[in-house]
Amino acid sequence: MSSPSTTDYKWWQEAVIYQIYPRSFFDSNGDGEGDLPGITSKLEYVAALGVDSIWLSPFYTSPNKDGGYDVADPRDVDPRFGNLADAKLMIDKAHEFGLKVLVDIVPNHFSSEHTWFKAALAAGPGSKERARFHFYDAKEDGTPPNNWISLFGGPAWTQVADGQYYLHLFDSSQPDLNWENPEVDADFKATISFWVKMGADGFRIDVAHGLAKENILTDHHDPKGLSDALRIDVDMEVSKREALLASVPFFDRAGVHEIYRSWRKHFDSFDQPIMAVAEAWVHPPENGVRYVRPDELHQIFNFDLLIAPFDASILFNLINNSLEMLKEVGAYPTWAISNHDSPRAASRLGSNEARAMALFLFGLPGSCYVYNGQELGLPDAELADSDRQDPSFLRTNGETKGRDGARVPMPWAGEVTPFGFTSGKPWLPIPKVWKDLTVENQTKNLESSLVLYKNALALRAKFFTGTSDFKWDSSALQRGLLGYTRGGTSVYLNSGISSVILKASQVILSSTEQVTCTNGEIELKPGRAIWFKQ
Ligand code: NOJ
Repeated sequence: MSSPSTTDYKWWQEAVIYQIYPRSFFDSNGDGEGDLPGITSKLEYVAALGVDSIWLSPFYTSPNKDGGYDVADPRDVDPRFGNLADAKLMIDKAHEFGLKVLVDIVPNHFSSEHTWFKAALAAGPGSKERARFHFYDAKEDGTPPNNWISLFGGPAWTQVADGQYYLHLFDSSQPDLNWENPEVDADFKATISFWVKMGADGFRIDVAHGLAKENILTDHHDPKGLSDALRIDVDMEVSKREALLASVPFFDRAGVHEIYRSWRKHFDSFDQPIMAVAEAWVHPPENGVRYVRPDELHQIFNFDLLIAPFDASILFNLINNSLEMLKEVGAYPTWAISNHDSPRAASRLGSNEARAMALFLFGLPGSCYVYNGQELGLPDAELADSDRQDPSFLRTNGETKGRDGARVPMPWAGEVTPFGFTSGKPWLPIPKVWKDLTVENQTKNLESSLVLYKNALALRAKFFTGTSDFKWDSSALQRGLLGYTRGGTSVYLNSGISSVILKASQVILSSTEQVTCTNGEIELKPGRAIWFKQ
């Protein structure tokens, strides 16, 4: 592992990257939705967290049927978020604060409002305009070309007026692009160049494993099983899930790697280093390594931790596998416990446990992603069905509750909702009970999650980043603990049900209440993590 002082060290290897969901971050104009000037005005807050970079979920022109992941013009800003000048200002200001900027790129699909799709509808079957998407005739009985189910529920095909169907792995407003058509690749390279010129330092690639499709005209033997296996909220026997996920005809096909090899050349053609992180949920996890071979992308998200229980032996296997697998190709792991698509860690694991997980992960080799509000320990908000906007809620008639609970706006200050997020009505209601969780309150409270994150990120840079002596404590698991040493510092997490006594000479940081060292010992309570010197 190279260290920050060596010339081959790249900023992202051990970066902490803060994910901003623009619609929910800060509203500067009172319309109830966050926007780019709002983000710019809060960059000081972000920089003070001690993170290295921001990643912004999409803010491009979009009818917003899927939170902006339905892009109608990838090289423009949606008016709800501002304009291109606001984007440029936001990026420049972030750089002034020493923050790198990653933007989202959504290559699996466009919005049905994109000019290409409108042209495809107008041009009709067999046209070059339709060849940019996956348009096919109906089967003889009039049904869709195959039986695939959309990841948001319902058929993955929608019929247009002339009888042809188009493929959409997600919402019907998100037609999948045909990556066998060179025009598609050329257009995405133009988008990459556009945002690099605007100052972006890298890209988060949406559905990175989905661009190449196989057997488009063949029915799947168990479409419902496959659709359930792809949903993290559906429980399924592990072997059944693994069998179904082993060969998804639309994910992780060999063809995607050709695309990323060619993108890598494009990234490397710029004067400044440009990085890319793949959102690719692949099975078996070993396949993920292929995305970060030296001539492909720089990082791949590790999604295991988004669903993993708070259990030392399960966590050991996940983390160790990731560290070991990536060594093969010299890539650095990524760690994340929350994002805009999954239940928030504080709800899923419990608030102490979420803090403990964060502290534990911050010491590991690799890069950490922190989703806005995670630093505040925000839970998922309870929402009325009438407030929900997620297409997966709408397409399953409410059977899937969707992801809105994790997308509720940030509580900034004050005693009453919407806690300074907007002077208007927030697009999703902010729970009254978040009063104690505001940035303002947590800044004053030395025991808060926010103060823990700030301390941890400052100390991470001091004790861990760039050190190459990571070592598991192999005896810890027998005591219900997960432990390692790195940079001369010990890191332990207690997932058991009773306290454990550890030998220590000095406590550096503990995840919940302060722990003190007495007679060379410390007590690590259940659901807690700690950094200390032995
Ligand atoms: C993954 C994104 O994170 C999610 O929010 C979106 O709905 C799908 N990709 C489709 O773009």
